[in-house]
Amino acid sequence: MSDEEREHWLSELRRVWCPDFVHKMQPMGARAIASLEPHYAARRDLARRFKPKWLLELGVQCGHGAFAFHYGSPGLHYLGIDSYADTDGIPMDAYRQHAAALLKVEGINGSIIQANTASVERIHGEYDMVMVDGGHGFSYCYHDLELAARCSKLVLVDDYLVKWKRPRKNRYNDVTRAVQAFCQGHPDVRLETVEIPGAWSIAILHI
Ligand SMILES: C[S@@+](CC[C@H](N)C(=O)[O-])C[C@H]1O[C@@H](n2cnc3c(N)ncnc32)[C@H](O)[C@@H]1O
Repeated sequence: MSDEEREHWLSELRRVWCPDFVHKMQPMGARAIASLEPHYAARRDLARRFKPKWLLELGVQCGHGAFAFHYGSPGLHYLGIDSYADTDGIPMDAYRQHAAALLKVEGINGSIIQANTASVERIHGEYDMVMVDGGHGFSYCYHDLELAARCSKLVLVDDYLVKWKRPRKNRYNDVTRAVQAFCQGHPDVRLETVEIPGAWSIAILHI
């Protein structure tokens, strides 16, 4: 990527940040916000690699993932599902509104459904790619993997194999455990991982 392209990407990402999201990150310092850029760059690059025309994302938050995927595969059709249930005083409704507006303003074809995926039994349609990034508890993630694998041959999972310097409360390890349990139950699935500089990886399940 040339310096010019990178500058364009960064200025676009800054342009679409949700103010409430930035406000929440700010107490953790400017570096906390900067550290998120590699997450979205990874989404952009995976979209460039796989060129999905139909994308499903479980866990939308402010829509920054949708933006990054669309940046990498312009013109894709997007369906996002998010419960937007308030957690820890985070203004989820502001996030929901931001995501909905982002799709419109950026000309991303598609929509966002507000639903708890834990109560969804099946998602209709077929997708070129699914990003699983909703509930990070074991049972939520495992259930989302099952939903995703029924409607796509390509499933990405965020926050896989976190390498914390010191063990935390196993919060993100649940995602890792869910992916591993899913792969054990589906031995034909091929697992690939993409490292994100900093901490996280994205798991790619070739179903
Ligand atoms: C890490 S954020 C998603 C970030 C987004 N994919 C991105 O790339 O910017 C996780 C989201 O999952 C949503 N979520 C958590 N549990 C969920 C559930 N059971 N059903 C649907 N959405 C859920 C939360 O509301 C939150 O917005």
